Amino acid sequence: MRIPLEKAAHLLQQGHVVAIPTETVYGLAASLHHPDAVKKIFTIKNRPQKNPLIVHVRSIDEAFEYSALEPDFLHALLAAFWPGPLTIVVPAQVNSVPEAARAGLSTVALRMPSHPLAAALLQQISPLVAPSANRSGKPSATDPEHVEADFGLSFPVLDGGHCSLGIESTILIYDTRGWRMGRRGALSREAIAQVLGYIPDYSTSEQPLCPGQLLKHYSPNAALTLSTISYEQCPHRLPVVVGFCDRQYRGAHTFFSFGASSNVEEVARNLYKVLRDLDAARIQAAWVDIDFPSENLWDTIRERLYKASQSNAQSMSS
Ligand code: TXA
Ligand code: MG
Repeated sequence: MRIPLEKAAHLLQQGHVVAIPTETVYGLAASLHHPDAVKKIFTIKNRPQKNPLIVHVRSIDEAFEYSALEPDFLHALLAAFWPGPLTIVVPAQVNSVPEAARAGLSTVALRMPSHPLAAALLQQISPLVAPSANRSGKPSATDPEHVEADFGLSFPVLDGGHCSLGIESTILIYDTRGWRMGRRGALSREAIAQVLGYIPDYSTSEQPLCPGQLLKHYSPNAALTLSTISYEQCPHRLPVVVGFCDRQYRGAHTFFSFGASSNVEEVARNLYKVLRDLDAARIQAAWVDIDFPSENLWDTIRERLYKASQSNAQSMSS
């Protein structure tokens, strides 16, 4: 059910869970101060209890109420990227952040979204915990229709249209030796490096710094065959192709477009919609063109597609 801003604020104040738009993906929001609503998020999403939630705040100053780090230490980073698609994981003021949201960890994930509706909502009720608004393991939701597909037409959704970035926030994790990348995301590592003065390391996939990175992710029902080999030359080509509108896939039967291969922002924006469109069309198996550059946002898109294809398909590279 599409609801206006005032109604969303009211429901959240009453301890309900509401889907809200952000510039990255839709979130399943609840007030941090309503423990039952926070618990409900885990049930609705079928999310493992050990996977902590991001706390969304309305200002940099509000973040300091939940972080145990010195404000001066965080200032340059937050001033450069907030509001926007950066989440920081820092030692928590444990008395201010209920254990359920932290999944028992001593750290807290904090983010200030830039979407105008999310910002306006946070002016009325803050902070809000919000994981991505999809059933656990499924592609994230970048349109109100995606939320409705996962949670039903009567689920309350604040309609902010299509998310402008389409990929989750980048997660930086504080460590006494410096910042490390907990999750690739919409904000590039290169942009972060310019502010930090060094390139933050990635955590390894065997030992992720974010508990959620261990889990099955972003997967449509369709088995995805990822390929860097051209369609015409690939011995494993399939009739259904996911690729770019400015390329030819001779002999393909059905085509789903990420957008133009020259426009990485457009591809990011369309990524989850395309994965969800495969399910809506009841596609069983698709061949996916991943012949694109190794840099910034492309790398993030590639990583999401690898995860989406895991356990149900093969990958090929030239
Ligand atoms: O763009 C986004 O970040 C979206 C929008 C709605 O804000 N939210 C989002 O939430 O992607 P979610 O729950 O789908 O992913 C959050 C990730 C999970 O992998 C979780 O394990 C990690 O953040 N995380 C949360 N708190 C953490 C903590 N204290 N330490 C390490 N990782 C944490
Ligand atoms: Mg998620």
